[in-house]
Amino acid sequence: MPEKNIESALNEKRVFPPSAEFSSRAAINGLEAYEKISRKALDDPEGYWAGIASELHWFEPWTKVLEWELPFSKWFVGGKTNISYNCIDRHLATPRKNKIAILWEGEPGDVRALSYQMLHREVCKFANVLKSLGLQKGDRATLYMGMVPELAIAMLACARMGVTHNVVFGGFSAEALRDRINDSQSRVLITADGSYRRGTTVALKKNVDDALEGASSVEKVIVYKRTGDAINMVAGRDAWWHDLMASASADFAAEALDSEHPLFMLYTSGTTGKPKGVVHTTGGYMTGTYITAKWVFDLKEEDTYWCTADIGWVTGHSYIVYGPLLNGATSVMYEGAPNFPEPDRFWSIIEKYRINIFYTAPTAIRTFVKWGDQWPAKHDLSSLRLLGTVGEPINPEAWMWYRKNIGGDRCPIVDTWWQTETGSIMISPVPGAVPAKPGSATRPLPGIVADVVDRQGNPVGVNQGGFLVLKRPWPSMMRTIYGDPERYKRQYWSDIPGVYFTGDGARRDEDGYFWIMGRIDDVMNVSGHRIGTMEVESALVSHPTVAESAVVGRPDELKGQGIVAFVTLAAGNQPLPALKEELKIHVGKSIGSFAKPDEIRFTDSLPKTRSGKIMRRLLRDLASGTKTVGDTTTLEDFSVLAKLREEE
Ligand code: PRX
Repeated sequence: MPEKNIESALNEKRVFPPSAEFSSRAAINGLEAYEKISRKALDDPEGYWAGIASELHWFEPWTKVLEWELPFSKWFVGGKTNISYNCIDRHLATPRKNKIAILWEGEPGDVRALSYQMLHREVCKFANVLKSLGLQKGDRATLYMGMVPELAIAMLACARMGVTHNVVFGGFSAEALRDRINDSQSRVLITADGSYRRGTTVALKKNVDDALEGASSVEKVIVYKRTGDAINMVAGRDAWWHDLMASASADFAAEALDSEHPLFMLYTSGTTGKPKGVVHTTGGYMTGTYITAKWVFDLKEEDTYWCTADIGWVTGHSYIVYGPLLNGATSVMYEGAPNFPEPDRFWSIIEKYRINIFYTAPTAIRTFVKWGDQWPAKHDLSSLRLLGTVGEPINPEAWMWYRKNIGGDRCPIVDTWWQTETGSIMISPVPGAVPAKPGSATRPLPGIVADVVDRQGNPVGVNQGGFLVLKRPWPSMMRTIYGDPERYKRQYWSDIPGVYFTGDGARRDEDGYFWIMGRIDDVMNVSGHRIGTMEVESALVSHPTVAESAVVGRPDELKGQGIVAFVTLAAGNQPLPALKEELKIHVGKSIGSFAKPDEIRFTDSLPKTRSGKIMRRLLRDLASGTKTVGDTTTLEDFSVLAKLREEE
C-alpha cells in the first residue's frame, strides 16, 4: 500500500453518446434498458448471474448459485459443464456450424479460416493426442507458442478434457518459462519450432530446450512446425504436432466437469519477485466472458471481430478465444507485428476482412499516432462500427485520435477496465447505452459493485482520488493463487477489510464515472505489460556485480511507463557504461526483452527509511524528474537523496 492517498488531476469534460443508429441495433439499446438490468443485478445478484449462466449448456444443473466464504468463492455449485463444448459443440447444430470461428493471418501473409466444424475436429483430435500421452483431468499443461490457431486449439483441447492450461507468453525468456513450468508442475509442454515477428523468427524451441534443463515435471514436448527452422528434437521426449495428429481420432466427447474445475492458470506480476499463478475455474469464468463479450462488444451474428492482444495474456484468453467463441463469433487472430512489412498492417487487415469490431491497447494507439495519420488514411476502414481499448489508462488525446482516425468519428469506443484476476471486463461503457468520456472506463457493468475508498475502506468523495475496490464477488473472479491461498488472501483481501483490492488508484466523478489512474502498488505497466518492480530487482541482483537495486516506473509517452533501475554495485566493480548494457541484457534473459530497464543509474546507496525500507516514492520522483514534495522525515540518511540528485 502506498504511503499517501492519491491526488487526481485529469479534468476532461467531453461526452460522446452513441449514435441513435448504433443504439437502436445494440443488445442493450439505451440507458433505460441498462439501468433496468443494473438494478436487477443489484437487487438479486444470484438470480441475475444464474439467468446468464443458464443461457449456456450445462450437463447437470447447479444446486447453489454462490458459496461465499470471504475471500473464497464457488459459483454454480454442483453444476457440470464444459467450456470447450460451449465454445464449439453448442454451435454445431445451428447455422454456425460452417461459420468461421477463427480467421487467422500469419505475418508472412498466409491465411487460414477454421469453421466451427473444422475447429471441433482439430480440438477433438488434439484432445486424443493429449490423452494418448497419458494426460488426465486434473493435470497441467504449459503452452508456449506464437499466435497460431494451434494455440487456441490446444487450449480448447485441454479444456475439453479437464487439463488445466498454463499459457506462457512467447516473449518470456527460458528462465521465466522454467519458473512457470516448475510452479505449475506441468507434465506436458506444447510449443512450436518458432514464430514470426517483424520479418524474422523467434526461436521458441531453443528457449524450451534451455528451460527444460531444470524442469523435471515435463514428460513430453509437442512441437508445432511453424517456421521450419532447424531445431533440436530430443528422442523419447519431443514429438511433432503433425505426426501425433495424423493418427488421432476426431471423436472426443467433452468431459462433464465440475463448475469449479480449474480451467487455467496464468502467471502475472505482483509486488513480490515471484510471479503468481492466477487460477480461474470453469463455470464462473465461462459466464463472465460470455456475457461481457456479448454486451461490451455488442457482437452480432454477421460481425467480424478482432482483438489484437497476444493469447499469452489474459486479454487473449478471454477476448480472442473464450468470450467470442462462446458467442459463436468470428474471431480474427494475427500472428505478427503491427509494422510488418509497413506501419499499416493493422489497417490493411481491417480493410481486407471488413472487420467490424476492433479491440487494442492504448500503447498501440499512441504508437500509431507517432507513425502518422497517413497510414490509416490509406485504407478503407468504413466497416468498423465499434472500437475498444484495454490494458492501461488511455489519455484523452489518444482516445480522440482513435475516434477520429480509426473510428471515422462514428464508432463508439469501449475503454474496458479489468485484470488477469477479474477474468472478464468489470468497468466499461455498454456501447449502445452509456455515453463515453475520453479517458474514463465509465461505469461498472451490471452485477459489478466497484467503489473508490480510502485505506480504511470508507468511500471517498466525488472526484477524490482513492483505491479502486470491488465489493461483491462475481463469477469470473480468480479463485486463488496456485498453491498459495494465503498469498491470495494477503495480496487482495487484507489491505482494505472485506473487499477485493485491485491495486489501482481511481476517482469517481459527479456522474459516477470511474477514472482509473493506474497502479499504486509496486507493479509497473509497461506497454500494457504488467511487470513487478521486485521481479526486475531480483533479476538485477542475480547478476554477480550487483549488490542492491531499486526499480521504479516513470511516465513514458509511448509505453505508459518506462523502467528505471537504481543499482548499487558490489565492491570492486566499476560503474561503466558497458555494464549498464550488460545488466539490461541480463534482465532480458531473466524475464524477457519487454522487461529490460530503459535506464540504469548507478548509485553508492539507496534512500531508506530507518527500518530499512527503500523509499520508492523518492526514487519515482527522481526518475520522472519531478521535485520531491512529500514527507522525507523517515529518511535514514538525507545525504543519500542529495547525492542521487547530484548524480542526475
Ligand atoms: O492497472 C490496471 C491496468 O492493467 C492492470 C491489469 O493488468 P493485467 O492483469 O495484465 O490485465 C490487463 C488486461 C485486462 C489493471 O490493474 N488496466 C487494464 N485495463 C485498464 C487499465 N487501466 C486503465 N484503464 C483500463 N481500461
